[in-house]
Amino acid sequence: MAEYDEHHHDVLVIGAGGAGLRAAAEAAAAGASVGIVCKSLLGKAHTVMAEGGVAAAIGNVDERDNWKVHFADTMRGGAYLNNWRMAELHAKEAPARVKELEGWGAVFDRTPDGRILQRNFGGHRYPRLAHVGDRTGLEMIRTLQDRVIYDRVDVFMEFTILELVRDGDRVIGAFGYDREKGGFHLFQGKALVLATGGIGRAYKVTSNSWEYTGDGIALAYRAGGELRDMECVQFHPTGMVWPPSVAGILVTEAVRGEGGVLRNKLGRRFLFDDIPPLYRDQTADNEEEGWRYTQGDKNARRPPELLTRDHVARCIVREVREGRGSPHGGVYLDIAWIKERIPNAEEHIKRKLPSMYHQFKKLADLDITKEPMEVGPTTHYLNGGIKVDGDSQMTTAPGLFAAGECAGGLHGANRLGGNSLSDLLVFGQRAGRYAAQFAKQNPAGRVDPEQVRQIARRAVAPFERNRAPQEESPYALQRELQETMQELVGIVRTEDEMRGALQKIENLKERAARVEVDGNRMYNPGWHTAIDLGNLLVVAEAVCRSALERKESRGAHFRLDYPDKDERFGKVNMVARAGHAGALEVRMEPIPEMPAELRQIIEEMK
Ligand code: FUM
Repeated sequence: MAEYDEHHHDVLVIGAGGAGLRAAAEAAAAGASVGIVCKSLLGKAHTVMAEGGVAAAIGNVDERDNWKVHFADTMRGGAYLNNWRMAELHAKEAPARVKELEGWGAVFDRTPDGRILQRNFGGHRYPRLAHVGDRTGLEMIRTLQDRVIYDRVDVFMEFTILELVRDGDRVIGAFGYDREKGGFHLFQGKALVLATGGIGRAYKVTSNSWEYTGDGIALAYRAGGELRDMECVQFHPTGMVWPPSVAGILVTEAVRGEGGVLRNKLGRRFLFDDIPPLYRDQTADNEEEGWRYTQGDKNARRPPELLTRDHVARCIVREVREGRGSPHGGVYLDIAWIKERIPNAEEHIKRKLPSMYHQFKKLADLDITKEPMEVGPTTHYLNGGIKVDGDSQMTTAPGLFAAGECAGGLHGANRLGGNSLSDLLVFGQRAGRYAAQFAKQNPAGRVDPEQVRQIARRAVAPFERNRAPQEESPYALQRELQETMQELVGIVRTEDEMRGALQKIENLKERAARVEVDGNRMYNPGWHTAIDLGNLLVVAEAVCRSALERKESRGAHFRLDYPDKDERFGKVNMVARAGHAGALEVRMEPIPEMPAELRQIIEEMK
């Protein structure tokens, strides 16, 4: 019998990035006792990698902005695979959530008359991103953390959740271990919120740090939840490419929002060569107009560097593949050029983009006020995720809620920059509210000790295979998976390559059952990696199988063998779940019909 400590809360939140913290704050405000369990230290979250701003149609810089434009932009950016209800709620509620955060102490940059300043970002029609230099996510986390501590939420840092615990279909708790000492813990909750972020570590080049191994998504899947739009992985166009030790680290889109331009090795702004028809009405076709837009000319159209991320990333890949890339396999991102246009450009860049200035100075010995950066796409975000109800954020497993990056729906096939931060505020708040409500209406579930025993037994199995024949190393398997996904299920996909990836994933699944770990449960990174591997394999398979089913190109999902959009696929989401025999199954689910008033908004905005 596994020994474990027990903890009881009304609402248990798993994950302490922006969505988890916002959910915890809301549930606590509703009177629930709340616990947060996080894999890392409090405050260390991918939220900080949304640097350039939080999208909300406040209209401080351009009064033409409003929720309807934001809704239409989000739907267009997502190529209409979005859960339209979530897109509507998000656009309507983001301004209130941002102002509330300001009330809680977030210090945003200011307009000359003292209001929250907003900047341009890709796919947003008007300057919409409230920001704090290029450290917006960090400021949000700081503010939310203060709030949660003030709300007396119990925080369990450096814990890994192994499995969710169920009573029948209902999720009633989570079983995990303390990453330092290795002790087991049972966390019971009348309602649970998953806010564990994304899957970036399924790929070799990523802006995500070590925590992002798809844990919440795999936990929900194994507990009977459904996943949607898993084929739509976002590759941010600009990550560092040099030196190799820092490849993938994010270079914020705010660089382009502040006037930075992308050039190939011939010095050409290649994005002018390929403006998608859907965005021609909004995109400048000459440098002069693009520059005027970045300087606030309301009659100008935005530069092509502010096209959506899926498109910009693909254009960079094309330049590199066709031999027009930079020496280390990227292209050039130049903000230094603005000194030709404005006085005191160096000071301006350092003030607007302080983190980027220091990041390149420290990591690449490059002064971005003087020289262009070398950049290329990096796996950044999962547009899809756990399927949730748009209003309440409850998953298809009763008692289990999800918010933030691990939840799917809002972004459809491609997320607009800055919509992640508003997503986590709007839907973190909703998840917290509805989880607290669920906890009030339902008594604690009954824990089956045998279920817990089995979870513990599976968790320690890698120690018991010591020196078994054909033992496998968790590190080697994780690396092979990352290489497979990077090479075969990346920005440009084909049937053959993805079939190859699937074969490899099946092979890795077999080998993962032979993973061996030395030592014991204390301070054992090999064990952590073995546990992560199981989750990574689930999400990688879901991405791959969903991508195979979507035989078209849409948003972030681009297939060389089906390079165009296909109307038939524009009417369905790919939904993955564990089938009866335990195998991952993908089905096409029709997108519910949009209400007439929302359809009309989209028509008007076209
Ligand atoms: O480029 C960025 O600052 C990232 C923002 C986001 O992912 O929303």
